[in-house]
Amino acid sequence: MAMLSRKTGIAFFSSLSVIVMSLVVFGVHVKAGNSAEVPPLSNSQCVLCHPQEPATIEAQGGKHKTEVGCQDCHPEHPPLGTGAIPECSLCHSDKAHYELEKCSSCHSNTHAPLDLKLEGEITGPCLTCHQQQGKEVKDHPSAHTDVACSECHKAHRKIPDCMECHEKHTEDMDFEACKSCHPVHMPLVVTYVQETPSHYCGAGACHEEAASLLQQNTTKHHDLSCAYCHRDKHKTIPPCVACHGQPHPYRMLEKFPECGNCHSTAHDLR
Ligand code: HEC
Ligand code: HEC
Ligand code: HEC
Ligand code: HEC
Ligand code: HEC
Ligand code: HEC
Ligand code: HEC
Ligand code: HEC
Ligand code: HEC
Ligand code: HEC
Ligand code: HEC
Repeated sequence: MAMLSRKTGIAFFSSLSVIVMSLVVFGVHVKAGNSAEVPPLSNSQCVLCHPQEPATIEAQGGKHKTEVGCQDCHPEHPPLGTGAIPECSLCHSDKAHYELEKCSSCHSNTHAPLDLKLEGEITGPCLTCHQQQGKEVKDHPSAHTDVACSECHKAHRKIPDCMECHEKHTEDMDFEACKSCHPVHMPLVVTYVQETPSHYCGAGACHEEAASLLQQNTTKHHDLSCAYCHRDKHKTIPPCVACHGQPHPYRMLEKFPECGNCHSTAHDLR
């Protein structure tokens, strides 16, 4: 058998049995110096013995299907060569992301390179591509700064709903409402629009007292919304004069410098 195929060479490669034979027979019996006598394999022949990898690449190979072939990554084959498994750095270098340890902890199958496995608490590696979000959580310390990126984003590009981890302030709030006040990577930088309904702030939410005072108040402040006075940013306290200018004669205000001397408070206005 060995002599026959040595003479006729490549013509025999049309059948699987001969390929198996040539690998096994030549591989085992031919010494390294004679390897030229073994016809080189081509990408289309791999499938004959390795059905799984080509199938995976066909379905999920991405750029490992379109930009490279089997032998770009596997230039040698046992037993003739031992360099059968490539390092990623052979082709991926010069980017912070490619300096990470253990590529395969996330890219668990090179033949399906974007079939990612994100297990455990991952933050640092995400920042090799998403510096902006890393900066947001770091520059604005909050409890979310201590939550790993992957605890919220359980799969890549997957956006979590706040209610997976939190209660709503009021029953009628939805995810969009949460995000309208809390930028998620810096949740204590609360801002809101003037149209924000007052019950998001008052009764049922956090500020019971303010809400009930205004509820009972009979002046025109009763009709104003919380966000109309406390504009844009949480904890903003507007001075009375910002809206009213100087409503009284200068001499009177010199004697009674605080509006509250006569009008009590904005919520309990008299
Ligand atoms: C005739 C059958 C046959 C063909 C064709 C074949 N292989 Fe293999 N391949 C094997 C066998 C058998 C092994 C196991 C060898 C061993 O472990 O020593 C193997 C092992 C491998 C390995 C693992 C090497 C390692 O060090 O773990 C890779 C990678 C590989 N083949 C790639 C390829 C590629 C790429 C092609 C096509 C260019 C190909 N094979 C064609 C039979 C084949
Ligand atoms: C982008 C590089 C790349 C390409 C392209 C590639 N492989 Fe691989 N292959 C690898 C790496 C890396 C491994 C080692 C295991 C892993 O990381 O998935 C591997 C492992 C293998 C193995 C051994 C599997 C095992 O369980 O030991 C075989 C067989 C194989 N590849 C065949 C192929 C075939 C056939 C093709 C073409 C259809 C191919 N590979 C294309 C990188 C590649
Ligand atoms: C023989 C060269 C080669 C090797 C080895 C190689 N790659 Fe690639 N890979 C490429 C090329 C070329 C591309 C397409 C261009 C790019 O995105 O850089 C690519 C793209 C990718 C992509 C994006 C896939 C897509 O469809 O967008 C990932 C992820 C990837 N490689 C991971 C790896 C990992 C992990 C390893 C090591 C296990 C590895 N590669 C080994 C050549 C290689
Ligand atoms: C902590 C998980 C993780 C580790 C470790 C990791 N990657 Fe990635 N990699 C990703 C994610 C997430 C993407 C983005 C995938 C997407 O765009 O859908 C990615 C994308 C890529 C891409 C395609 C996009 C690009 O920027 O080129 C390549 C190539 C790549 N990784 C190679 C590597 C290599 C090489 C290593 C090891 C040095 C590695 N990765 C380690 C998670 C990881
Ligand atoms: C190799 C680069 C790379 C790495 C590493 C990476 N990503 Fe991405 N990520 C991307 C790209 C590219 C996009 C798409 C960006 C776009 O569409 O503007 C993206 C998008 C996202 C999105 C947005 C999805 C949306 O709907 O807008 C989230 C969330 C995300 N990544 C989270 C993560 C997390 C968490 C990690 C770490 C586990 C991570 N990424 C690691 C490249 C990466
Ligand atoms: C507490 C949960 C949580 C944590 C922790 C978290 N994210 Fe997000 N992330 C989200 C939510 C929710 C969105 C959607 C925000 C939106 O649509 O306004 C998002 C959006 C994104 C986006 C899309 C672009 C953007 O900024 O809206 C990227 C990229 C992203 N996150 C990456 C990261 C990275 C990287 C980390 C780690 C530093 C991280 N995330 C930590 C919940 C989280
Ligand atoms: C994967 C879980 C998770 C998701 C999803 C999540 N958070 Fe959190 N968040 C936490 C944890 C853990 C804390 C700290 C303990 C606590 O207050 O419950 C926290 C705390 C907070 C705090 C208080 C911050 C501080 O420093 O006191 C705010 C505000 C907040 N989250 C808003 C949100 C909003 C808004 C969303 C959606 C856009 C969201 N969270 C999504 C886990 C999560
Ligand atoms: C009208 C604006 C607004 C909306 C809408 C909003 N929040 Fe808040 N939230 C706040 C303010 C203001 C605080 C207090 C922040 C501080 O302590 O500085 C807060 C605090 C929190 C806290 C910290 C713990 C607590 O209860 O005091 C969590 C968690 C939280 N919000 C989650 C959510 C979630 C989830 C949603 C959506 C269902 C949401 N928020 C909608 C304004 C809002
Ligand atoms: C964000 C703007 C704003 C702020 C701040 C504000 N007010 Fe007013 N106030 C109004 C508006 C609007 C009215 C109704 C005017 C109208 O309808 O003519 C009003 C009405 C009043 C009235 C008349 C009430 C009535 O029923 O006729 C008094 C008195 C008054 N404000 C006092 C104050 C005092 C004192 C403060 C500070 C403690 C204050 N306001 C803060 C907007 C404001
Ligand atoms: C007319 C403008 C106005 C309206 C409407 C208003 N506030 Fe105020 N709020 C003020 C002013 C001004 C102060 C500072 C104390 C003062 O001078 O009355 C204040 C103080 C506060 C404080 C600080 C603690 C305290 O009670 O003094 C909270 C909390 C508060 N307001 C919440 C609310 C909420 C919630 C609503 C809606 C239910 C609301 N406010 C409606 C103007 C207003
Ligand atoms: C010495 C007591 C006193 C002080 C101090 C005072 N007010 Fe008045 N304010 C009054 C009286 C009395 C009225 C008239 C009430 C009425 O008409 O029922 C009035 C009326 C007003 C009105 C309603 C004007 C209108 O045309 O309806 C506004 C607005 C007002 N005050 C704002 C303020 C502001 C702002 C301050 C602080 C800069 C302030 N007041 C300080 C006693 C005072």
